[in-house]
Amino acid sequence: MSLDVAAKKTLLRKIPHGLFICGVAEADHINGFTASWVTQGSFEPPLVVMAVRADSTSHGMIERSGRFSLNVLRADQKDLAAVFFKPQTAVGGRFDATPFKLGELGLPILEEAVGGVECVVVGQVKHGDHSVFVGEVRTAVLHQDVAALDLASTGWSYGG
Ligand SMILES: Cc1cc2nc3c(=O)[nH]c(=O)nc-3n(C[C@H](O)[C@H](O)[C@H](O)COP(=O)(O)O)c2cc1C
Repeated sequence: MSLDVAAKKTLLRKIPHGLFICGVAEADHINGFTASWVTQGSFEPPLVVMAVRADSTSHGMIERSGRFSLNVLRADQKDLAAVFFKPQTAVGGRFDATPFKLGELGLPILEEAVGGVECVVVGQVKHGDHSVFVGEVRTAVLHQDVAALDLASTGWSYGG
C-alpha cells in the first residue's frame, strides 16, 4: 500500500472550512489565532472539534487551561483573519486590532464578529503535528446573524 501524496493533497483541500478566531486564556494572559480546522461533533451535549498546531503558543495554553473560545467571523472580516495568523510582537497583541470582551469562562469574544462560543475541553487526541481538541460548548453569544467568512472565499489554503 502506498499513499498517492498528490491525490491526498488535492482531495483533503476540498474539505470545506469556515474561518474562526480561537481565543485562549491562561492566568492573566489571553491569546487568539485564526483556525479553520473546526467542525461540530455532537448535538447533545453540544461539542465542537478543532485541530491546533502542536508548536503554536495557543496549543499549550489550551492544554493547561482546558478551555477555548471560537469566534465566527463575518464574511467581510478577511483582513482580521489575516491579523490573527500573522506573527505578533507579544502574546495577545493581535487583539489590538479589534474590540473584545471576556465571556463567562474568561475567554475572548470578539464584539464585531457574528458571535462566539466558549468551550471546556472534554477530549484531546495528541498525534501528529496538530492536536485535536474536543470542546463542550458552555456559552454562546450572537451579535449579528449575518453571513460568515469561509476559507474558499479568501483564496487561502490550509490543509492537504
Ligand atoms: C487560512 C489559515 C487557517 C489556519 N487554520 C489553523 C487551524 O485550524 N489550526 C491551527 O492550529 N492553526 C491554523 N492556522 C495557523 C495559525 O493561525 C497560526 O499558526 C498562528 O500563528 C498560531 O498562533 P499562536 O502561535 O499565537 O497560537 C491557520 C492559518 C491560516 C493562514
